[in-house]
Amino acid sequence: MCPTIVPLMRETKKENVVYFTSLLENMKILVATEKPFARKAVEGIRGIVEGAGYELALLEKYTDKAQLLEAVADVDALIVRSDKVTREVIDAAKNLKIVVRAGAGYDNVDLAAATERGIVVMNTPGQNSNAVAELAVAMMIFMARNRFTPGTGTEIQGKTLGIHAYGNVGRLVGRKGKALGMEVVAYDPFITDPAVFEADGVRQVASVEELYRASDYLSLHIPATEQTRGSIGYDLMMSMPAGATLVNTARKEVIDEEGLRRALTERADLKYATDIAAGIQPELDEQFGKRVFATAKKMGAETAEANINAGLAAASQIVDFFKTGNTRFQVNK
Ligand code: 3PG
Repeated sequence: MCPTIVPLMRETKKENVVYFTSLLENMKILVATEKPFARKAVEGIRGIVEGAGYELALLEKYTDKAQLLEAVADVDALIVRSDKVTREVIDAAKNLKIVVRAGAGYDNVDLAAATERGIVVMNTPGQNSNAVAELAVAMMIFMARNRFTPGTGTEIQGKTLGIHAYGNVGRLVGRKGKALGMEVVAYDPFITDPAVFEADGVRQVASVEELYRASDYLSLHIPATEQTRGSIGYDLMMSMPAGATLVNTARKEVIDEEGLRRALTERADLKYATDIAAGIQPELDEQFGKRVFATAKKMGAETAEANINAGLAAASQIVDFFKTGNTRFQVNK
C-alpha cells in the first residue's frame, strides 16, 4: 500500500466563485534516460512540463550511477525508461514524489522502496506497444530468412504463432500475425473472458504447455516478476514443433538460460531471437551461430512514435498528478 500524496489545494474566491489551485508549484521534473528519447519527444515533454509552470531537467546518455544520484537530489518527479531506480536512487532523491516509467515494464523500479517513502510509481501502458510488436514480427521474418544471409528460408504465412501473455503488445503481435496469414493461438493466465481472444480471431489455449506445443513461432510478452523469472526453459522449448523459433521482446530474466542452451544443443532445429541479450549471449552466439540472434541494445521501443507517445504520456501524467491528484496509472497502489 502506498500512502498516496494528495495535492494540497489553495482555495480562493472571486465574484462568488471558488477556485482551487494546486499548491504543488515550482516542481522540478527530471528526465533521466541512459537511452535517450528522440529529440521530438524531449521537446514535447518540455512543452508539457514548462506549459504547466514546472522546471525540466535532462540527464541523457549517462554512464555512471553517480550522475543519476546527483541529478535526482532536488527533483520532485522523475521520468525514466529502463533506467534502474534502485533504493539508493530513491534515498538520494529527498524531494521525490512520483516516478513514471515511460513504458510498460516497471521491474526496473524498486517499488518497495518507493512505497515506503509514499512515492507514487506509474507506467504508461500501451504507449510503446506497437513499436515492440513490429519488432517481434520483424524478428520472426528475419529468423525465417536465415537472418538475411544467402540460402533458402521459409515463410511465416500458414505457420502457427503463439502469443504468451495477451496484453497490449501480445494483442498487437497477434493481429499482425493474422494479417500475415498466420494461425494465432494465445495463452494469458490473467484473461478469463474468451471474448477478448475471439474478437481478434485468436484461439485461446488452456495452458502454457499447450501453447508451446502448438507454436512454430512463440512470441513472449510476460513481465519479469517473481513468478515468471526463469520460467521459460528446457521443457517448454523442447515441446515446440520442428523448426520452431522463440522470440523474446519481453525480458531476459524470464528465460532459464541454461535450459535454453540445453534445448538448443539437443535440438538443432530450434532458434532463439531476443531483443534483450542473454547473460550468456556470447556463448550462445559462438555455439549456435545463425540459430540465435540478439539485438546490440534493446530496441523494441526505439521508434520516434513510441518515444513521443510514452514520453508525452509520462509528462502529462506527472502534471495531472500534481495538479489534480490523478493516480490512474499508479502501479504501487
Ligand atoms: C517497456 O517495458 O516499455 C519496454 O521494454 C521498452 O523499454 P525501453 O524504454 O528501455 O526501450
